[in-house]
Amino acid sequence: QKLEMELEAIEKGGYDHFMIKEIFEQPRSIADSMRGRLRAEDAHLQLGGLEAYLDKLAETERIVIVACGTSWHAGLVAEYLFEELARINVEVEYASEFRYRNPVIGENDIVIAISQSGETADTLAAIELAKSKGAIIFGVCNVVGSSIARATHAGAYTHAGPEIGVASTKAFTAQVTVLTLMAIATARRKGAIQEETYGHLLTELECIPSKVTQVFENATRIKEIAFIFTYARNFIYLGRGLNFPVALEGALKLKEISYIHAEGYPAAEMKHGPIALIDEDMPVVFLATKDSSYEKIVSNIQEVKARKGRVIAIITEGDTLIPPMVDFVIEVPATHEILTPLLSVIPLQLLSYYVAVMRGRNVDQPRNLAKSVTVE
Ligand code: G6P
Repeated sequence: QKLEMELEAIEKGGYDHFMIKEIFEQPRSIADSMRGRLRAEDAHLQLGGLEAYLDKLAETERIVIVACGTSWHAGLVAEYLFEELARINVEVEYASEFRYRNPVIGENDIVIAISQSGETADTLAAIELAKSKGAIIFGVCNVVGSSIARATHAGAYTHAGPEIGVASTKAFTAQVTVLTLMAIATARRKGAIQEETYGHLLTELECIPSKVTQVFENATRIKEIAFIFTYARNFIYLGRGLNFPVALEGALKLKEISYIHAEGYPAAEMKHGPIALIDEDMPVVFLATKDSSYEKIVSNIQEVKARKGRVIAIITEGDTLIPPMVDFVIEVPATHEILTPLLSVIPLQLLSYYVAVMRGRNVDQPRNLAKSVTVE
C-alpha cells in the first residue's frame, strides 16, 4: 500500500493530481504533436500517415467527424478549421447518434474519428458503420495500436503521452494541434490557402507552446477567481466562432470534476434562453479574445452586465476595453485567430481544476465517470 502510494507520488512528478500535471505538460505535448511534422523556417508540413491520402482529402466535398466527449469538442474546432482554411463542408457527429441513425455516407466521404483512448465503443462502432458504406476513415488517436487506430485506413497520432486524469486536458490540445496541421496541409494541397497565410500559420503554430507557458503565469490569479466562485451553483460559458467549442469544453471540464452545473452556449444564442438565468449570482465566463467576433462579444458582455451577471472574461493581452466592463479578466497572448482555442482553453482547464480542488473533489477520478468508455 505504502509502496503504491509512493509510486503514484513519483508518477505525479511533485504535483497534487495528475490533472494539474497534465495541464502543465501542454507546452511539451503540443510541441510533441508537431515534432517532425512542422518546420516553419522552410515552410515544411507533412503528416506521414496521411501523405498517401492527402489528394483524397483535398478532393473531397464532405468530411464527417465522429467522436465523443472532449474529443467531440476537438471535432467542432476542426469543423471551423477545415471550412475556413480548406473550404470543405464538415459535419460533426456524436458517434453514439451517428451509429444508430441511417446516415447518408458513402465512398466519396471522408470520416475523421477522434479518440484519446482509441477504445470508445460508440466511436469504434461509428467507424465500422461508415467503413461498411465505403467511406475512407482517418483516425486521430492518442494511444498507439488502440482498437480505433487499427480500425482506420490512415491517421495521425497525437503525441500527448499517457493521460491519467479522467477529465481530458492535454489530449484535447494535442487533438486540436493535429487537426490544425491536417486542415492546413489539406488547404495547401487544394491550393485554397495563400502562401503568406500558410507561412504565417506555421510560424504562429511553432510559438504556441511558449504562449501556453505564458498563460500559466496567470495560475495564481485563476486560483483567486476559483476561490471566489467555489460555491457557485451554476456557470455559463459563452463564446463565438472557434471559441464556441471552447465554451462547451470549459463547461464540460467544470461539470466533470467539480459537479457544478455548467452550460456552454454560442454567445448569440444566449438571448434565446440562457439570458433568463442571469442574475447577480450567475458567473458567466466569456471567451472574448480579439478576433473577428470581438465586437459582437463585447455587446454580449454588456447584455450580461446589464442583468448583473458576474463576468469572468478571457481576453487578449493588452486589451483595455473589456477590463473595466467586467468583474475579472484572464489574459492570453495574441495569436492567429485560427489557433485561438489552443490558448483560450488553458485558463478554463485551470479554473475548473482549482474550483474542484477547493470543493474537495476527487479531481483525477470524478464520480460516475470513466477514462475510456468501452461499453455503450
Ligand atoms: C470519456 C472520458 C472523456 C473523453 C470521452 C471520449 O467520457 O471521460 O474525457 O473525452 O470519454 O474518449 P476518447 O478516448 O474516445 O477520446
